[in-house]
Amino acid sequence: MTDYLFPKNFFWGTASSGPQTEGRFDGDGKGDNIWDFWYEKEPQRFFNQVGPDKTSYNYKRFKEDVALMKATGHNSFRTSIQWSRLIPDGTGEVNPEALAFYNAYIDEQIKNGIEPFMNLYHFDMPMPLQEKGGWLNRETVEGYVHYAKTCFELFGDRVKYWFTHNEPIVPVEGGYLYDFHYPNEKNLRHAIQVGFNEALASALAIQAYHEDQDGQIGIILNLTPSYPRDENNPEDVKAAKIADAFFNRSFLDPAIKGEYPEDLVAIVKELDMVPEHTAADLEAIKQHTIDILGVNYYQPRRIKAKDNPADKNPDCPMPEDYFDNYDMPGKKMNPYRGWEIYEKGIYDIMINVRDNYGNIPCFISENGMGVEGEERYINADGQIEDDYRIDFIKDHLRYLHQAIQEGANCLGYHLWTCMDNWSWTNAYKNRYGLIAVDLDKEAKRTIKKSGYFFKELADQNGFKD
Ligand code: BG6
Repeated sequence: MTDYLFPKNFFWGTASSGPQTEGRFDGDGKGDNIWDFWYEKEPQRFFNQVGPDKTSYNYKRFKEDVALMKATGHNSFRTSIQWSRLIPDGTGEVNPEALAFYNAYIDEQIKNGIEPFMNLYHFDMPMPLQEKGGWLNRETVEGYVHYAKTCFELFGDRVKYWFTHNEPIVPVEGGYLYDFHYPNEKNLRHAIQVGFNEALASALAIQAYHEDQDGQIGIILNLTPSYPRDENNPEDVKAAKIADAFFNRSFLDPAIKGEYPEDLVAIVKELDMVPEHTAADLEAIKQHTIDILGVNYYQPRRIKAKDNPADKNPDCPMPEDYFDNYDMPGKKMNPYRGWEIYEKGIYDIMINVRDNYGNIPCFISENGMGVEGEERYINADGQIEDDYRIDFIKDHLRYLHQAIQEGANCLGYHLWTCMDNWSWTNAYKNRYGLIAVDLDKEAKRTIKKSGYFFKELADQNGFKD
């Protein structure tokens, strides 16, 4: 039997976000964000046409939800403040209803021994700012810094772990390359500008935080280790390195090293797509790097050299002009989400951060398995027996444990997610929670088998097997 014991004070918990859990209610004063707007315009793009107003009603039920967090072993929990709830028009007055809600929610967590981790931006651009270009517009950077400072002033006395963005590459990919977020553009020049402005906004918020706050501030990145089809084929290796530059190092390097990777800069220059910026912007990115890194890990990226290098549209350059995605035979899949499950990826990321990023303090900020149709696993007592999720968690924790044994500076593990929640255009298709939410029964919450497993895991600070 092996004992997988984790370091003292390890963070055990889950992650979620404001837009995916809170819901929207008459009189709550929330302004529209891009999800409210897009759903209104194209409800058919959302699974079963379930929109952002119908998320798990956490706004009204947060006390019950915090009690459930406690029952499932949380000593920490991450959510996000919704910018459009706190400051409905993006830049003006604070909404008093939102202030009361976030204060009460944070206090409830602390009262129950749950350390609040707070993220500032989870894909949810306020609509008045999107109308002026969203992250493409420099004014959004200023608006974001104002919003971030407001959050630090209002909640910084109790929240000691802050994050500037969750997965900033996703609004770039979804909104400006691959059509799964509003504004549904396909424009690499815009994608690069959006990514730069997000990184700049992050640095400026970190600067503001460090001026008068005493906790830690970081960023949460979805790192997808890029594996070449054939490690002995230099063309595959080169292609994988370029994919890594586009999707991982584009945020990882500025966040930790304060500068962009040379290979990415060379490509952007060659494309003549250097984003608009000033020398002061680069200096801000250089100076204001993160204290702590959140790593979201779901799947790796398999890459090969392009089968046909000429296969590109000169009018619409894309990252895939430099590599092909490789459909590796025999890979283990999560069939519902269509994502590969490769547990060792979590180890490889940790070792990369240890060796190439100064072993900065980090934690797993998301990892999880979305499954469709979990009702079929309900037992006679009404509990979902999600043994596959328990196995998924253990399989990843074994590798995480190994990385920690080998010196990785990993402080915790947060699962995605606490209770089933609304996931953008996938809405409630795939369920990720430790706790089931029954939408047909007024969002009734029931702890799944994995929730009880997680409690034991946290109580024992690990597991044996
Ligand atoms: C993560 C995001 O990448 O994946 C979450 O941070 C999201 O917001 C989660 O809900 C699962 O996504 P999906 O697309 O499988 O529903």
